[in-house]
Amino acid sequence: MPLTEQINEIRNRFSEDAAGISTGALSFEDVRVKYLGRKGLVVGLFSQMDSVSSEDRPALGSQLNSLKSEISEQLENHVAGSDDSGSATLSIDCTLPGNPILSGSIHPLTQVLNEIKSIFKQIGFSLAYGPEVDTDFYNFEALNISKHHPARDMQDTFYLSPETLLRTHTSGSQIHFMEDHEPPVRIISPGRVYRNEDISVRSYCLFHQIEGLYVDKTVTFADLKGTLDYFAKQLYGKNVKTRFRPSYFPFTEPSAEMDVSCIFCKGKGCNICKYAGWLEILGCGMVDPEVFKSVGYDPEGWNGYAFGMGIERMAMLKYGVKDIRMFYEGDVRFLDQF
Ligand code: DAH
Repeated sequence: MPLTEQINEIRNRFSEDAAGISTGALSFEDVRVKYLGRKGLVVGLFSQMDSVSSEDRPALGSQLNSLKSEISEQLENHVAGSDDSGSATLSIDCTLPGNPILSGSIHPLTQVLNEIKSIFKQIGFSLAYGPEVDTDFYNFEALNISKHHPARDMQDTFYLSPETLLRTHTSGSQIHFMEDHEPPVRIISPGRVYRNEDISVRSYCLFHQIEGLYVDKTVTFADLKGTLDYFAKQLYGKNVKTRFRPSYFPFTEPSAEMDVSCIFCKGKGCNICKYAGWLEILGCGMVDPEVFKSVGYDPEGWNGYAFGMGIERMAMLKYGVKDIRMFYEGDVRFLDQF
């Protein structure tokens, strides 16, 4: 039978079957599959196109296309006009839950950083930024960490060339800022830092720090303690206690580390504070005169304090996150909780 006749025949058969859907004698789905399914009658006709001569092909092709769209259109009308009879399974059920609309949230690191920034902003610190790709001079030399200083081994450095590197801490921002500004100085400087460390629960090859620097004519260690104690209470709650332990950093003298009373066990001792009751949160100290010399500040006329802390650590403690890698995996099941 020529293709045109077959097309007409199938058109007629479809109208009969469509009537059958209306009376409930045939199911909508069976009819749909019979005509439009992958092995259906309409596809069957299309497959005959190969044997049609090239002059007839355009005309027949368009007849076939209109048959197909007529059938789909009529089937669609059936769905739209259907009630509970026959084709109920295909009607739209407005009571089904919709697709959830996913909304973003602010990353926990950004949240903690914003909080830290606002605490220091309220007491007069402004923001300054240093470069992530820096030189040996700013990252080490000017901070009194000389070429063969053991502190350079402590920070496994990603060198880009013998003189340029990915900064290992934000302390270099102090130098950049002081070079460009006359004292007094009151800044915090947040940013990414990089260390060539094995990736584990506790360390990642990049993380974030926030640096603080205060320079004026009569700055004392008491100012440093008062400011950082105030900061810890603002961030972790007013019942938090702080203590300062002597430490060593080449760019501060004297140097200290500040602990807060464990925010999980309130200082009683738990597995997070390793039963010490205290958690170390930052390093700090009075700016070493050598640092002032390297930026051209007169160490006789000016003094100051500096501090530096890891933002991941602050966030892990604040939210009880046990694995630093969580911050970088972008898993919404983790991120949704903040
Ligand atoms: N740069 C130090 C580090 O990465 C942190 C630090 C300690 C910064 C003492 C300071 C400071 O400004 O005074 O571990």
